Amino acid sequence: MERKEHWENVFSTKTEKEVSWYQEYPTTSVDFITALSLPLDAKIIDIGGGDSYLMDALLDLGYTNLTLLDISEKAIERIMNRLGEKASKVTFIVSDILDFKPTEPYDFWHDRACFHFLTRTFDVEKYSKIVSQAIANEGKLFIGTFSDNGPKKCSGLEISQYTMESLRLVFEKDFELSGCFTEEHPTPFGTTQNFLFCGFKRK
Ligand SMILES: C[S@@+](CC[C@H](N)C(=O)[O-])C[C@H]1O[C@@H](n2cnc3c(N)ncnc32)[C@H](O)[C@@H]1O
Repeated sequence: MERKEHWENVFSTKTEKEVSWYQEYPTTSVDFITALSLPLDAKIIDIGGGDSYLMDALLDLGYTNLTLLDISEKAIERIMNRLGEKASKVTFIVSDILDFKPTEPYDFWHDRACFHFLTRTFDVEKYSKIVSQAIANEGKLFIGTFSDNGPKKCSGLEISQYTMESLRLVFEKDFELSGCFTEEHPTPFGTTQNFLFCGFKRK
């Protein structure tokens, strides 16, 4: 199945609590973002945001310059419906991240559990190049993947697990690692998944 078809199928057939990555509130991401003390008009993009609650949380905190990119039109339809009138405050982009051609610089790039689906070296390098094109001079990056203690698959698809060092190497050309931590994500099914989160800043 093609990548896009897979994700359209997921968001057409499963409720939010039937997927392992569901979080009622994205505490880790929100804590990371608020600790950066970005201005409220900072240009923030969430890659593969799906219908997660990050946009809701950031809107509630007063952020005004938000973009969500996802390969699935259905996921975006779901979050737009949930946000209602507030959806007009978010820019939505339906695109495969590997086809994304950023036209303006972003101050902050967030990716939780999207990047790790890229398992071919060529695709990982392409993602890294797109990040470099997209991030402003003082811009920052926050990437969450499964760690080497995490699952080997997600949503039935192969993923690439990362360690602090292997993730650092992906972005080292233009980004300096600020720090990493791991976290057990409790899934709605009563299991846990070990995530690695790393923050980077442009060199
Ligand atoms: C595991 S979910 C994570 C969703 C969200 N980031 C979260 O933390 O709840 C992966 C998301 O990435 C999106 N996705 C997968 N591959 C993608 C790609 N190549 N380009 C853009 N989005 C992609 C899927 O549609 C889905 O919304």
